[in-house]
Amino acid sequence: MRGVPQPSREEVLGYPQLHVSQHPVVAHKLTLLRRADTKNKQFTELVAELSWLLGYEAMADLPLHGVPIRTPLEDADGFELGEKIGLVPILRAGLGMVCGFRELMPRVQVWHLGLYRNERTLQPVEYYNRLPEKATVQVCFILDPMLATGGSAVGTVRILKDWGAGRIKYIGLIAAPYGVQQLVQHYPDVDIHVAALDRELNERGYILPGLGDAGDRQFGTAE
Ligand code: PRP
Ligand code: URA
Repeated sequence: MRGVPQPSREEVLGYPQLHVSQHPVVAHKLTLLRRADTKNKQFTELVAELSWLLGYEAMADLPLHGVPIRTPLEDADGFELGEKIGLVPILRAGLGMVCGFRELMPRVQVWHLGLYRNERTLQPVEYYNRLPEKATVQVCFILDPMLATGGSAVGTVRILKDWGAGRIKYIGLIAAPYGVQQLVQHYPDVDIHVAALDRELNERGYILPGLGDAGDRQFGTAE
């Protein structure tokens, strides 16, 4: 990222698409996640717990429709979610976010996409896609812990829109201002929910202060 101008946190905090969790439990768990001495097992558990919490916040505007029910005492008006929900974890690091979301919402469809970032060019490379021919859900939650240059997120939204996805929300743990700016400029209709907005990207495209490599820390593949 050397020589590439990056916006400040303050510049992107004003975007209406960006939702940075203000929940103290999120801040507490994210702090544990960031620590260099947090080991793989706890790291993975924290990713799942944070995903549940962020999912709960990100689902606050999902539409409901009424459903008549019977309680043990009488008839009542109930509600159920009115849209089919799809989770789209981005392999590898997004995998760890699936279980938290499924605890929250067990009846979701899960569609995997594989993208990795070429660490030299910082461009996303697609290597796995088993989406069926036509979209089967109305709202997609992209799950990927790190929104760094935004290349992977922008590439994923493009794939989902070509597929026919209606509403798309991006759920991440940590975002860099540059990645948020890129995603908003390319796809202003995508809501972004994260646990934290960090300061900047370093020359290798890593988020500072960040947490390092989210995939390596979950799967024990750091050197
Ligand atoms: C990480 C992360 C995102 C991407 C973000 O994945 O999980 O997918 O980098 O970077 P970007 O915003 O600059 O595109 P990585 O490429 O390390 O692959 P992995 O999940 O297999 O570790
Ligand atoms: N991918 C990661 O895992 N971490 C970063 O800081 C940037 C991209």
